[in-house]
Amino acid sequence: MSELSNSLQKLLSPVQLNGITLKNRIIKAATFESMLDDNNNITDKCIDFHESFAAGGVGMTTLAYCAPEPDGRMIDSYMYIREEIKPQLQKLAERVHKHGCMLSGQIAHCGAFSRNKKLQRKRPVAPSTQFNSVGMLYGLFFTQEMDRQLMDEVANSYGNTAKIMKESGFDAVELHFGHGYLLSQFISPITNKRKDNYGGCIENRMRYPLEVLANVRKQVGDDFPILAKITMYDDMKGGISLADGIESAKLLDKAGIDGIILSAGTSSQNPMLLFHGDSILPGLLEYEKNPVMRFGMKLVAKTMFRNYPYRELYLLEAAKKIKAETSCHIIYIGGANEVESLEKVMDLGFDFVQSGRPLLRDPEMIHHLQKLGKNYVNGCDHCNKCAPLMNDPDGIRCVLPKWSEQ
Ligand SMILES: Cc1cc2nc3c(=O)[nH]c(=O)nc-3n(C[C@H](O)[C@H](O)[C@H](O)COP(=O)(O)O)c2cc1C
Ligand code: SF4
Repeated sequence: MSELSNSLQKLLSPVQLNGITLKNRIIKAATFESMLDDNNNITDKCIDFHESFAAGGVGMTTLAYCAPEPDGRMIDSYMYIREEIKPQLQKLAERVHKHGCMLSGQIAHCGAFSRNKKLQRKRPVAPSTQFNSVGMLYGLFFTQEMDRQLMDEVANSYGNTAKIMKESGFDAVELHFGHGYLLSQFISPITNKRKDNYGGCIENRMRYPLEVLANVRKQVGDDFPILAKITMYDDMKGGISLADGIESAKLLDKAGIDGIILSAGTSSQNPMLLFHGDSILPGLLEYEKNPVMRFGMKLVAKTMFRNYPYRELYLLEAAKKIKAETSCHIIYIGGANEVESLEKVMDLGFDFVQSGRPLLRDPEMIHHLQKLGKNYVNGCDHCNKCAPLMNDPDGIRCVLPKWSEQ
């Protein structure tokens, strides 16, 4: 046992989040598992996957990309939350709880970011009708601007999903307001061209996302933690600026969100900003079977897969700005790999750290940190080879040898 610094002790000590106690401040970030069966249900492998982080000591783990309705799935083999899959969700909650770990579910609707050939509606829903570059090769040429009825339908599906999760034993939910998914399509001026009071200034662009939050809050009650993952900025011309990011965080805070996870970029147009490190394009090309799509991806490679060399805490400067303007819990995410980085995030007063790749690299990171303190080395090299495995039937994993065998 190594002596722990005050910052590490803080990181590894229990903390409250709207009525629940996490045994430490490390939350496993949503990393789309790709562990689903033919009925769009999570498999026992997915449950084992989350149990590995629970057994490894994290305070909370997050089931990723739970679509709130069938058309919320990017492709039809993804999961959507419904009553019939409750037994498997309950099993997941029981297995995670066995280790004193909390469970959250990330609710994300793809909106226009859809390649779903089995859409129930004619077109993918979106803030505005636009040409759909993502779905055009699948016959989905245009998106459908959401009218009041569609907006209510989709907002209710978020509320219903959160209710099912709560009834299944989940301890929190995480609403995806970022990465180019539906709610972030409302926030971005590139995808939101509305002329009504849901478009224009940031207050208007945040109006629908806040209605979704209100619907979820109504379903789960005041004493149930709701987190929001946002894009602080997307580095796109005419897209989400840091000023937008700060304002959205302030509006979420005012609307009673329990915690905000501060990410950046969009999965659809500028994915490397959220990852930093080696390009995920070669891996994605390996899994893309459609030759036209492969050609298209190579064509847009330079603009879409921009180069963001990895550096520790690559989102820290923007995150500090948002932290200074908000009073809810603030959750740091992005390149918190080294012990010094984790300590720094604690010293700066962030309440939690969400960890994606470091935990994929070493699911027992907490136990190893407790044992080794400042001598702990995680070993994730930011190759990002785990990310394209979102398309692999065996699911995501770190491609390096097991941490204990390195
Ligand atoms: C394999 C993989 C899958 C991911 N899937 C999701 C996802 O489903 N939803 C999401 O919001 N972010 C997803 N991300 C992004 C992570 O949650 C996180 O924002 C990013 O990896 C940066 O954090 P890190 O440096 O701790 O890995 C994924 C990342 C990886 C590596
Ligand atoms: S494959 Fe492993 S080493 Fe590479 S980025 Fe993912 S977790 Fe890190």
